[in-house]
Amino acid sequence: MLALLLTISNVINAQDEIAKVVASTENEDVIKAGKALFNANCAACHKLDKKATGPALRGKADKYDREWLYKWINNSQGLIKSGDAKAITIFEENNMSIMTSFPQLSHTDIDNILAYTSQPKPEPIIIESSIAEGGSGESGVSNNIILAALALVFLLLVVMLVLVNKTLRGIAIASGVEYEVKSRTPIWKVFVQNQFLVLVSTIFLLLIGGYFMFGFLMQIGVNQGYSPVQPIHFSHKIHAGDNQIDCNYCHSSARKSKTSGIPSLNVCMNCHKNISDYNGEENLAEGYTLDFYNGEIAKLYDAVGWDVDQQVYTGEEKPVKWIRIHNLPDFAYFNHSQHVTVAGVDCQKCHGPVEEMEILEQFVPLTMGWCINCHRETNVNMKDNEYYKKIHDELSKKYGVEQITAAQFGGIECGKCHY
Ligand code: HEC
Ligand code: HEC
Ligand code: HEC
Ligand code: HEC
Ligand code: HEC
Ligand code: HEC
Repeated sequence: MLALLLTISNVINAQDEIAKVVASTENEDVIKAGKALFNANCAACHKLDKKATGPALRGKADKYDREWLYKWINNSQGLIKSGDAKAITIFEENNMSIMTSFPQLSHTDIDNILAYTSQPKPEPIIIESSIAEGGSGESGVSNNIILAALALVFLLLVVMLVLVNKTLRGIAIASGVEYEVKSRTPIWKVFVQNQFLVLVSTIFLLLIGGYFMFGFLMQIGVNQGYSPVQPIHFSHKIHAGDNQIDCNYCHSSARKSKTSGIPSLNVCMNCHKNISDYNGEENLAEGYTLDFYNGEIAKLYDAVGWDVDQQVYTGEEKPVKWIRIHNLPDFAYFNHSQHVTVAGVDCQKCHGPVEEMEILEQFVPLTMGWCINCHRETNVNMKDNEYYKKIHDELSKKYGVEQITAAQFGGIECGKCHY
């Protein structure tokens, strides 16, 4: 609870901080426009705080006068050739790499870009206790309550046992039986002789057993909603949603083979050799700041051994162990290409709105009933499918229907899914 309150107050503080930064800059729209122009024209060679092909640009606008900057950005080579001393120095300091000319950018455009590059570097916002922790704490509480209840029941049992023992003693003394003998009866005998106690403790043991058994079965059985924390925070929302990257770019084998597979890190580096900074939206409520995302990209570099400053591979690789989310038991057979390519089923039909998931989760139950229901409801795709044409025609005569469902096609025969 305390952790949750702390988190909330941290988030509120964080938002105050941002409000201050925003208020201190003259105009949000100018900066927004500048950021868009910067990303479109300059980001390929310049970063704000790190050297890339060209120098880091944050705060550079104050070093030169505006007229000079207009000339430089519109046509830096022209300025160098005109013999401008400053221009020549910068050119030589940067190994004579040539900066593209941007004659199309108006002075207002350039002003906007420079307003963006002149923004102060945002203070890192540290959210100490993440909300995720609060969440898992909650289920911990309910578990604790159950355990406390069980402990209480157990305590009652012990008290009863002691009481019963005392009563027996009392009876023994009152009835004049020699107490010495009786008192040597071991406690477990007293226990067994008392049928009520046996009944209560049996129920008690069954309850405990049932509780743990249930937990165990839930764990190996249905995993709907399962979303483990991955070694690198990889957001499908940012990749497949915001940036519209096709699922097949990374899961290319889904179309051709039984499994879909997770892309190798080389695939990531096709893009991330050039994308070392995240410039998209933050998600402060969850603690995903720009720094957080950049840190995750840095983990990728660490894993493939990519030195960002030198732009070379160091050869020190550390494989990333993604945690598998969807997992059918070995005795069930499932084939991706049959569903994706042959049947033409969308990924989202079985995996949900993946392009909206910041953290991927298992969206469907993956039970046998789930597979069979869909086979009953979904028609076999006959378009461009010569192979099935003949069987399809025969079957549709047999069932007297136009469209054959996957179930009528054999999709509920045990042997199709079980080896
Ligand atoms: C093709 C790569 C490339 C692109 C695109 C590019 N630049 Fe440059 N820029 C450079 C290089 C390289 C230098 C260093 C000078 C040189 O070698 O010509 C530089 C230098 C500069 C400088 C002087 C920096 C200093 O440290 O004095 C400014 C300002 C600048 N660029 C702004 C921009 C802006 C604004 C854009 C986008 C409209 C842009 N650049 C796009 C490569 C690029
Ligand atoms: C840029 C690469 C990339 C793109 C594009 C991409 N994915 Fe992924 N996908 C991954 C990586 C990496 C993982 C493993 C990490 C994780 O689970 O988040 C993954 C995991 C998955 C998983 C879970 C795998 C398991 O362990 O069970 C599913 C399902 C999935 N992706 C579906 C999709 C769908 C559907 C799309 C298109 C909407 C898509 N992916 C687009 C890279 C990508
Ligand atoms: C087709 C290009 C492409 C591929 C392939 C790709 N990414 Fe990205 N990645 C991006 C873009 C674009 C962004 C967002 C950059 C931005 O908004 O400034 C991004 C952002 C990220 C981020 C920060 C946001 C987040 O998701 O946490 C991480 C980490 C990341 N990528 C890791 C990976 C990993 C790991 C792989 C390989 C499994 C991968 N990327 C493959 C283009 C790609
Ligand atoms: C008919 C339902 C269905 C469709 C459609 C489907 N999947 Fe799957 N997917 C599954 C099942 C079931 C599993 C678990 C397979 C297993 O454990 O053997 C799975 C597993 C995965 C995995 C984990 C790795 C693997 O291959 O086991 C990824 C990644 C994945 N799917 C991506 C995709 C993508 C991308 C698409 C779309 C091109 C897609 N899936 C379409 C049902 C589906
Ligand atoms: C979104 C609906 C859908 C879901 C969910 C689905 N399937 Fe299917 N499945 C189909 C369709 C449609 C076909 C027919 C494909 C074709 O044309 O061969 C099919 C075909 C099959 C076949 C081939 C049947 C044959 O007659 O050759 C197998 C095996 C199969 N599915 C297994 C599974 C398993 C296992 C699951 C659950 C993990 C599953 N399917 C979930 C739609 C689905
Ligand atoms: C469309 C595919 C499909 C067909 C057809 C199918 N099963 Fe299954 N079956 C599965 C999947 C997938 C699982 C794993 C479910 C899970 O992990 O919860 C499963 C699990 C089981 C289990 C283990 C118990 C359980 O629910 O986890 C038994 C037993 C079983 N199937 C028997 C059969 C019999 C008998 C038939 C024929 C009448 C049959 N199955 C037809 C897909 C299928």
